[in-house]
Amino acid sequence: MLHKIAIVGGCGHIGLPLGIVLAENKFKTFLYDIDEASVNTVNDSILPHMEEEGEERLKEVIKSKYLLATISPKVLSDCDIVILTIGTPVDEHLNPRTADVFKVIDAILPYIKADQVLIFRSTLFPGTMSLINDYLKTKKCNASLAFCPERIVQGKGLIELVEVPQIISGFDEKSLSVCRQIFGTISKQKPVTLLPLEAELAKLFCNAWRYINFAISNQFFQISEKAGANFFKIYEAVKKDYPRMNDFARAGFASGPCLFKDTMQLSAYSQNTFFLGHSAMLINEGMPSFAIDLLKNRMGGSITGKKIAILGMAFKANNDDVRDSLAFKLRKMLEFFGAEVICHDPYVKHQEKFDFKFVDLPTALKADAAIIGAPHKDYKKVKVPKDFILIDIWGMFNSVS
Ligand SMILES: NC(=O)c1ccc[n+]([C@@H]2O[C@H](COP(=O)([O-])OP(=O)(O)OC[C@H]3O[C@@H](n4cnc5c(N)ncnc54)[C@H](O)[C@@H]3O)[C@@H](O)[C@H]2O)c1
Repeated sequence: MLHKIAIVGGCGHIGLPLGIVLAENKFKTFLYDIDEASVNTVNDSILPHMEEEGEERLKEVIKSKYLLATISPKVLSDCDIVILTIGTPVDEHLNPRTADVFKVIDAILPYIKADQVLIFRSTLFPGTMSLINDYLKTKKCNASLAFCPERIVQGKGLIELVEVPQIISGFDEKSLSVCRQIFGTISKQKPVTLLPLEAELAKLFCNAWRYINFAISNQFFQISEKAGANFFKIYEAVKKDYPRMNDFARAGFASGPCLFKDTMQLSAYSQNTFFLGHSAMLINEGMPSFAIDLLKNRMGGSITGKKIAILGMAFKANNDDVRDSLAFKLRKMLEFFGAEVICHDPYVKHQEKFDFKFVDLPTALKADAAIIGAPHKDYKKVKVPKDFILIDIWGMFNSVS
């Protein structure tokens, strides 16, 4: 039997690709979201944010009527499965904001029935699922409960949902069997089953592992630069035909809405004894400052009064997402040191809404110097004038390959 599915937070970066893939597999899928603008955009077959292969695939599923976005929570009552993909950020103390999750649960509870399966897909602080299970009982809600954390890389959801094995966990046999059926249908890989707490930890381990991995490369980059050696030359050399270094990451800003906050969630969970996670934070969050030091060295010690361009404001290459982008921290720090900052990004949308100035690429290249904030492929084609000072912490132009 194919289910009717509702996704809460369905127009977000995780909800939308999941919704498209479910609809492609002939699950009648409703994207419930409180963001009316995104709901209208999706129903008009337009992606609210960049997603590889997204444009065509969204058009098809809207046309086939297997996918519909709505601001009405009433659709939840008509579905036998409700999947939650709402954001789960950390607070100003870098602790999880679990209360937000319970607020959403309270908001949807009037539409949840005993025969439904509730699947949490957001990244959760370890132990939250057990609290949710207890909470639902106090609210006399007998829906089956599951936790299946999302592990896609932003922007590649449509591809990875099919390719990457899905981790599933549940509080009863019904929820597990439904998760096996759904994720077994959409993915080429057999789902992997864990207990809910194990699945919560598994997701945080994945992101903390990647965050630490980037930190190692960033620290090696800093060591190389201080020694006057070319990190990227060494990087290419040690990876060449040496599979043990396959996971050696490139240097660059490690930012965005997931890696940092999930490492901090794990740190909060381990009562601030996750020293490796905190060390990674010091290195990764220190990269804008390190880039400015490199710039100052190239500019005779001071950047006061200089016009500095940042090329790329998104948190990663070839993407439009600026959430928690370190390019923004870089901009603030450059201004603190007295520079006039101009920014360019070919992908970031609604540039008029930011409280700083975006310029076109030719204008950016007329600045006194530039720092690459995000290594968009477009910059690879730029003919950098010979004497132009360009700080390239990503190795876009330094690579020997
Ligand atoms: N972005 C990623 O690449 C990624 C990867 C793996 C896991 N995750 C996790 O997935 C979760 C979602 O992240 P995201 O990047 O999709 O966030 P997002 O902000 O892009 O999407 C969340 C969506 O939920 C909607 N929403 C908020 N409150 C709501 C409510 N009360 N009712 C209905 N809709 C509501 C928002 O309007 C938004 O569209 C987070 O836990 C995140 O850590 C994200």
